[in-house]
Amino acid sequence: MTTAAPAPKANMGQPIPRYDAVAKVTGRAQYASDMPLRDPAYAYLVTSAIAKGRIDSFDLSEAQKVRGVVDIVTHENAERLEPAKFFSDGGYASTTNQPLRTAEIAEEGQIIAVVLADTYEAAREAAHRVKVSYTAATPTTSFHSAGTIAARAKGQVKRFKDDPKVGDFNTAFEEAEVKITAEYETPPQHHNPMELFTTSVAWNGDSLTIYEPSQFVYGLKNGVATQLGIDPDQVRVINPYVGGAFGSKGSMTPRTAIIASISRRLRRPVKLVATRDQGFNVSTYRAETRHRVDLGARRDGKLTALRHEGWEISSRADAYCVGGTRTTTRMYDCPNVDSAVWIVRADRNTPGFMRSPPEVPYMFALESAMDELAHQLKMDPIELRRVNDTTREPIGGKPYTSRSLMACFDEGAKAFGWAQRNRQPRSMSDGDWLIGYGCATTCYPTQMAPAAARVRLRHDGRARVEIAGHELGTGAYTVIAQAAATRLDVPVEKVTVVIGDSDLPPAPVAGGSNSTASTCSTVMMVCDQVRQRLFKALMPNESLSDKAKETVGVGQTPSGRAARSDQPLDREKAFDALGVNVIEEYGEWKPEGAPQDSFRAMHSGLVRIVGGPDFSGRIAYAFGADFVEVRVNRFTHEVRVPRVLGAFAAGHIMNPRTARSQLMGGLIWGVASALHEATELDERYARYVNDNLADYLVPVNADIPQVDVILLSEDDAHINPAGVKGLGELGNVGTNAALSNAIFHATGQRIRTLPVRLEKIEA
Ligand code: MOS
Repeated sequence: MTTAAPAPKANMGQPIPRYDAVAKVTGRAQYASDMPLRDPAYAYLVTSAIAKGRIDSFDLSEAQKVRGVVDIVTHENAERLEPAKFFSDGGYASTTNQPLRTAEIAEEGQIIAVVLADTYEAAREAAHRVKVSYTAATPTTSFHSAGTIAARAKGQVKRFKDDPKVGDFNTAFEEAEVKITAEYETPPQHHNPMELFTTSVAWNGDSLTIYEPSQFVYGLKNGVATQLGIDPDQVRVINPYVGGAFGSKGSMTPRTAIIASISRRLRRPVKLVATRDQGFNVSTYRAETRHRVDLGARRDGKLTALRHEGWEISSRADAYCVGGTRTTTRMYDCPNVDSAVWIVRADRNTPGFMRSPPEVPYMFALESAMDELAHQLKMDPIELRRVNDTTREPIGGKPYTSRSLMACFDEGAKAFGWAQRNRQPRSMSDGDWLIGYGCATTCYPTQMAPAAARVRLRHDGRARVEIAGHELGTGAYTVIAQAAATRLDVPVEKVTVVIGDSDLPPAPVAGGSNSTASTCSTVMMVCDQVRQRLFKALMPNESLSDKAKETVGVGQTPSGRAARSDQPLDREKAFDALGVNVIEEYGEWKPEGAPQDSFRAMHSGLVRIVGGPDFSGRIAYAFGADFVEVRVNRFTHEVRVPRVLGAFAAGHIMNPRTARSQLMGGLIWGVASALHEATELDERYARYVNDNLADYLVPVNADIPQVDVILLSEDDAHINPAGVKGLGELGNVGTNAALSNAIFHATGQRIRTLPVRLEKIEA
């Protein structure tokens, strides 16, 4: 075992190498835009230079002169597509602002024309020669701009049903012995996956094939079919690998149906690779947020009152919010809780989910406020969390399915050397460097959705698993192979996994950290169906009751653990008894509490995720504790982060290697969200300024010398057959607060607006 492949503890699978490792490092892995098309036309987008107003006219004469130009599509000649329903309202689309319909401009960077040419270079050249006359209006950019419209999220956003509250916050806060009131801000961020937003399409008669990096092939297939007015069975989406997504490829963006309709009209395959800067506008982003947190407590640290109010930016077209109060109001034991979320509309593109969408900004606010409270109480911040730890969430009194928060703090603190911390701010230093230790809680809702799979087993033990899951670089192939191998009792090398294709049995959106729980639970169930057939073949029928026949050969998992059946099976003999060489099973699985229409919705690419704060009478979350050491130069105020440590408990760990890698990536994102990442806005034009990877800062190796991940054993019997909580988004929650708390400890200065940059440090 190595650092990269930690030895499994109780209730963990083996840290086998990635299923797709060789394909990835040898370049054999084909991404969507690598797929060969026959004689494609290359598309290049022309995007709006204004954020609000209208197009008066186009002058295409210079563009049309470029040799190789095939067509230029604008709102004046574009095919009319069917409107797409917004993702948050139960539809497929990332935005309802569908471009190329009218002359109106509603956001900077909106697609206003598509140039098609025989080569990419010709399309690009011509696109830059398109001349546009606009009538521009002054846009509203963000919170501080004139012309925003603010309204409560409740009632506007279908998914955001209620503002959690309990008890009497006002009285309790009034009477509290110790109080904290503070305001926090987080910036806009863009996902910037390495793989760009590409769309390649080819029609074969009435059938459309789309090669596009997607976190949800069934959603894209059905969404594009709706917009084109064709049967979803005529659409196939293929993407065996996705080069990073982080939420940006989860919902259908307007470009796909546009490119497909152009291809249909040209009777020619079309390939689009939007540029990095265009990607800032043609997909979604994490909107900027503001928060006010009020905490009231007794002198011993026990919380008596908690209020969290959040404000989030959205577009004029769509009411989008992440609404993280559903988490922050339930984190700690507190009898009097109040909350509200507001959506503030500006002239921007519609935001969307980005890694740990609600928790990254909202837990930053709560965990910073908890640190402020600990300081005021002269209390260790870990002890403050311990005093307020709970096994029941305070709003509805529901029990946690399991909650290992304090175990994570204790193991993390020990490994980090937290005991060496002097509680006094600005008390630790090393030469010119002020040293700070900070910590924070991390958590992420355990979520699951219905899925289907097909499993084929041959007499020689070779198996093939088919499920329309998604490999975003997370390890999906690997854990699905492990689930099947364990359940079928065959070596993992004999398992072939086929994913990333909407012709396969449906799987949910690879979002909300639900993939491993959903796909592995499903694959395990279908593997059990296979084993059942083999076992039954070996049993004389009359010796078994009907009830026993149903369960024979099925791995019993009373605790929800991913344990294989203990009953030995002579596979070869069973196949001989059946008189076949191959058996195949198909099955559909849904989590407890999934709505009645789950399977129908699943086949239509609609999202029916369950879990989190309301899961069959319980509350289901994974937990962790983040620790950060910072060094702040006392003269230059430069910030260094010599080490980050996270301790996590997330139910059954399928593979400690891929788990560690996910969590480590999360911690690095967390550092980025505290110190580096921010999309800068030009307030005059509502324009993203640093729309490239040179100016949009992300950490590089030199920023992250040491990242330690500790995986705790946890066994949760209540969540799903795989026993998996999911950890794709657990790592990067709370890291921003831990880091900013460390800055306070180092300098004595509290920075409540992210990112922390050296010019903000005055001490
Ligand atoms: Mo993730 S933001 O759930 O794709």
